[in-house]
Amino acid sequence: MTAVAAQQSGPRHVAIIMDGNGRWAQARGRPRLFGHHAGARRVREIVEACPDLGVKYLTIFAFSTENWKRTQVEVAGLMSLFRRYITKEARALFNEGVRVRFIGDRVKLDKKLIALMDELEQITAGNDRVHLTIALNYGGRDEVARATKRLAEDVAAGRLDPAKVDEETLPRYLDTCVLPDPDLVIRTSGEARISNFLLWQSAYAEYEFIDTLWPDFTAEIFAGIVGSYAGRDRRFGGVKV
Ligand code: IPE
Ligand code: IPE
Ligand code: MG
Repeated sequence: MTAVAAQQSGPRHVAIIMDGNGRWAQARGRPRLFGHHAGARRVREIVEACPDLGVKYLTIFAFSTENWKRTQVEVAGLMSLFRRYITKEARALFNEGVRVRFIGDRVKLDKKLIALMDELEQITAGNDRVHLTIALNYGGRDEVARATKRLAEDVAAGRLDPAKVDEETLPRYLDTCVLPDPDLVIRTSGEARISNFLLWQSAYAEYEFIDTLWPDFTAEIFAGIVGSYAGRDRRFGGVKV
């Protein structure tokens, strides 16, 4: 039986389900978009906190494949917020040494937004201080379905031998193919569910569900959660010696 080394360091890859913007706005008698704007403003502080905490990869859930079910006003407001966010934050992200990537299905997004996403990925491609991945029109099931389609195409074209398909194969087709699996997944706002986020990749992630609404999430709270991760005993099905 494989013995597992004791947990020694902090999480290298943290993924966050940034939830609670709507309730935060509602508590202030404001429209939901007011909460989304406040939520977007929290992101920079969390990204900037990563290097000191030893977090090399940060992945944030910005918009799910299910979020299209919201009102047209909210969806359009979010799309315009994403465009503004990229335009406004690009320079600061670049200067902070952040490499930005997007995961999710881009096809359904508007052309202007896709162009901004491509450009941000390109201009930050040489950075390596923090790897920020933004999940936009992302759903874990959608990602696995898209990956499976491409895998099947490779089999049909004779590029992949079905007998050689194992659990190392599918991840190569996922949007996250260049990223390590998340070590820690945080969800704000008190909901204890994963809502279709990084389904394959989080098989052995540690989870932290906290009541704080996303617009109230601070670098201090983040540091506290990252710090407490060190005390967790990750066994990956093995036993400790
Ligand atoms: C998370 O906040 C942001 C998105 C899903 C885009 P919500 O908008 O889900 O906020 P609540 O859960 O309604 O409070
Ligand atoms: C998950 O939050 C998606 C994002 C944070 C972008 P939701 O608010 O959409 O999830 P549910 O509907 O509560 O499961
Ligand atoms: Mg929500």
